Amino acid sequence: MAKPATVFVCADCGAETLKWQGQCPQCARWNTLEQRTVARRAPAVATAVPAAAAMKELASAELPRLETGMSELDRVLGGGLIPGSVTLLGGEPGIGKSTLLLQLANHASTTTPTLYLSAEESAAQIGLRARRLGAAAPNLRVVADTDLEAVMARARDERIRLLVIDSIQTVQLASVGTAAGAVTQLRECTAQLVRFAKAEEVSVVIVGHVTKDGAIAGPRVLEHLVDTVLYFESDASSRFRNVRATKNRFGSVGELAFFHMGEQGLREVRNPSAIFLARSGEPAPGSVVTVTRDGRRPLLVELQALVDRMVFGAPRRVAQGLDSQRVAMLLAVMNRHAGVSLQEHDVFVNLVGGLEVTETACDLPVALALASSLAGKAIDQKMVAFGEIGLTGELRPVAYGEERLREAAKQGFTTALVPAENAPRQAIEGLRVKALTRIDEALKFALS
Ligand code: TYD
Ligand code: MG
Repeated sequence: MAKPATVFVCADCGAETLKWQGQCPQCARWNTLEQRTVARRAPAVATAVPAAAAMKELASAELPRLETGMSELDRVLGGGLIPGSVTLLGGEPGIGKSTLLLQLANHASTTTPTLYLSAEESAAQIGLRARRLGAAAPNLRVVADTDLEAVMARARDERIRLLVIDSIQTVQLASVGTAAGAVTQLRECTAQLVRFAKAEEVSVVIVGHVTKDGAIAGPRVLEHLVDTVLYFESDASSRFRNVRATKNRFGSVGELAFFHMGEQGLREVRNPSAIFLARSGEPAPGSVVTVTRDGRRPLLVELQALVDRMVFGAPRRVAQGLDSQRVAMLLAVMNRHAGVSLQEHDVFVNLVGGLEVTETACDLPVALALASSLAGKAIDQKMVAFGEIGLTGELRPVAYGEERLREAAKQGFTTALVPAENAPRQAIEGLRVKALTRIDEALKFALS
């Protein structure tokens, strides 16, 4: 065994230096370096050669998954929680992380030994919440503690298979020696939990708070350590919340699950298109419905545009939920290829419901909404449109055209305006598909 080495670790950012300094060379904070001794292990003599496994066998092994009791959440996870995996759930305080995980733990405990560690709320507070949620499965164990070491020992003793840590910012390891929530604590606690999960085949779910201004010292520094990262988000004004996977070693990312926060906790929203389509009765100029995609699922959203004669200075181009550069490009294309000039107008485009979409399928609906607002003419409320617009004014196909059309028909739309190549091979019942090749034709069709 080599002798222990001394290093200096920044309590704030976790950077290590060999010499003491007044200022951390990494984050430039003053007086944050603390002395630590680390056991330097002598290089191990290669005794056992690690066994290699055949990929063929590995590939055919099915991973068992623990269902969360919420099919939407399962879908985001790629089918459920995997034993031995670590999932991080990030979100702003008060968004509903504890509520979601208590519901999840409650369901899981009916089939799986489950331990819920609450380091933020007392056991009595959890009890109150559980009563409200109707989440009092007889086998769900709750512990209110902040000592991670002790909790892992307990989980090991009780042969726990699902461990929920609420939250990583409030637990600590005595051996690390900084306060709970410091970056060194966060990292070390998470690393220990990852080792624990892999060694004991336990699914671990970690809560991490994100600050409003974007996650400094929060879950971001932990993302690379864990298997799956979920973010819990909401539009500030809405009762709807969504969970999105931004990293998933066991499934695809980009999937969205929608929830509704009510009196009895979170409820899944199975038909999210209904939220984004809650339109008032009267047809209004500047409003168009489009079919976008969240992850693998088509989603109908309303897109609104307002054009207004500019008073002075440079015209304003404001895009909410869409790329404003793309909107500027569409304005130029409309001017050159469709004779719709908005050079002397302020332009506002908004995707209803606080959603953000980056795909080019929104080009055509944006152009339609703008032209509709300019002309003061409403577009048929039973029509959807999607498609990319090229710089020469051509309509270009987008992926999953047929799936989008089917979803539109399912939601009761009767007309679809799409690029020619997106015309379905077989007719879709109840949906008239108008497949066109040029932007000027599309505008003429929608506004005549
Ligand atoms: P919580 O799960 O405590 O948030 P987090 O753990 O992310 O900080 O959720 C808190 C909010 O949810 C709080 O504003 C109250 C609300 N809420 C309900 O509306 N209904 C419920 O049944 C519960 C349990 C909470
Ligand atoms: Mg909480």
